[in-house]
Amino acid sequence: MTPKNDACRLVVLISGRGSNMQAIVKTAQDTGVNARVCAVISNKPDAAGLVWAHEQGVDTRVVSHRDYPSREAFDADLARAIDAYEPHYVLLAGFMRVLTPAFVEHFNGRLINIHPSLLPAFPGLHTHQQALALGVQWHGCTVHFVTPVLDHGPILAQGIVPVMASDTINDLSDRLLSVEHAMYERVVRWLAEGRVTLDALQRVHVQGVATRSFVLTSQGVQSPEFCHE
Ligand code: GAR
Repeated sequence: MTPKNDACRLVVLISGRGSNMQAIVKTAQDTGVNARVCAVISNKPDAAGLVWAHEQGVDTRVVSHRDYPSREAFDADLARAIDAYEPHYVLLAGFMRVLTPAFVEHFNGRLINIHPSLLPAFPGLHTHQQALALGVQWHGCTVHFVTPVLDHGPILAQGIVPVMASDTINDLSDRLLSVEHAMYERVVRWLAEGRVTLDALQRVHVQGVATRSFVLTSQGVQSPEFCHE
């Protein structure tokens, strides 16, 4: 949990385009949100998102997994690079690396991921393809705390979009992305406001928030209703 009054320090990890990272940076730049993106770190030197982040004046770093002999060695150096910024939370935003249990343990309760499916459905890769292949009529995305089990962990928020008969993988992925951005923005606000806790059963609680579900409607992404206690 972020200490009251302190700006919530965030490090964002990306591997590519970084549209979720952009949504997070823009939210932190909003004067009404007490959060700061201290760094954007990529495992890929050519990640397009790095250029955008640098242009925004955000520190950028590359820790290329190709420079390391093992997953463990890469994760250890990545953890060191992140720790230098002393973040309250580390946000994975299209970071396409499986992380070692030691790394996950090091950031226990501070490591958050966005996954493009309504977990526990469709962990892993090619989630839009899997959704279309199975003919599901709602597809979704999940923001969750990271555990050593891939694409699994306490759920912070989930969002859904309808699947259209004519959808291609790109159509579905683009539609879902608007929900991903709205949802990650909202989660950053909750983190910055120090509302998020995990209980002994590893369930998420967000103080004063009645629902953490998001739906794409014809009016856009509908945010949860707030009910302050
Ligand atoms: C997003 O759809 C994100 O949910 C997904 O990669 C995309 C990255 O886009 N993440 C995963 O698949 C993680 N397993 P972005 O770089 O534009 O944010």
